Amino acid sequence: MKVSLSLSFFLVCLLFSSGLTNALLMLGHDTTSASMAWTLWLIATYHKVQATLHEEIDHVLGEGKEVTSEMLSELKYLDIVLKESLRVYPSVPFVQRELTEDVVLDGVTIPAGTMVEVNINILHRNPKYWEDPEEFKPERWENETEEKDPYLYIPFSAGYEASPPPFPAASGCFMIFFFLSFFFLKFSPRNCIGQKFAQNEEKVIISKILQKFTMTAVDKHVPAIPELILRPEAVKIIFKRRN
Ligand code: HEM
Repeated sequence: MKVSLSLSFFLVCLLFSSGLTNALLMLGHDTTSASMAWTLWLIATYHKVQATLHEEIDHVLGEGKEVTSEMLSELKYLDIVLKESLRVYPSVPFVQRELTEDVVLDGVTIPAGTMVEVNINILHRNPKYWEDPEEFKPERWENETEEKDPYLYIPFSAGYEASPPPFPAASGCFMIFFFLSFFFLKFSPRNCIGQKFAQNEEKVIISKILQKFTMTAVDKHVPAIPELILRPEAVKIIFKRRN
């Protein structure tokens, strides 16, 4: 009895942790690589932005090999470049939510229980809220004085969990796990848990590239592939070693 209990507990942990590992790998890898590809292409296209980044990186990193966490927090211009890049090209272009109450939109009532899609890509380019929405302008994030609605910029999502994750429900103690996760997640915020990690990862890689290279984009326009992850079709960049 003791053996079978600990065995089932072990199996539950294994299933739970492999799901979690998959989630972390899938959500952590594709999103960051798409964002990094767009950002490199944008930097390679906007030479003034690149020159400002070179100046900042030379000042903060110098010719050193290591990037420390103190250095990362000093790379302020790179911060807003990444922020603006995720505005124009959000790696996750839409999220879904279930309405918990009726919502009236332009005189039409959408009943509670409806699954709605929040299109982050369109939200980030809405001319009602963004000046020159199609333009890549990191400076728009400098000296922000005006209080903006926090739901206008949501590359890492926002809101609450509508339903439990699709853990395969079995029997016995696995069901307990399932219901616990349902209660726990149903009322907890739903957004990206890897936000800070992704930002730091991108900052390390991009600053190391720019420390050594000047980049020039080959194409003026790169089409986006509209899938679950908004990725560029192909990014071609010429890298030239800096003196
Ligand atoms: C630029 C990089 C990234 C972007 C734009 C991004 C975006 C998002 C978004 C929009 C969601 C929420 C989906 C929803 O509300 O339904 C999400 C969830 C998630 N992200 Fe990220 N993500 C990024 C990087 C990462 C990294 C590096 C990790 C892990 C190392 C990660 C782990 C996760 C996990 C586990 C969830 C699910 C959270 C939950 O179910 O409550 N993400 N991400």
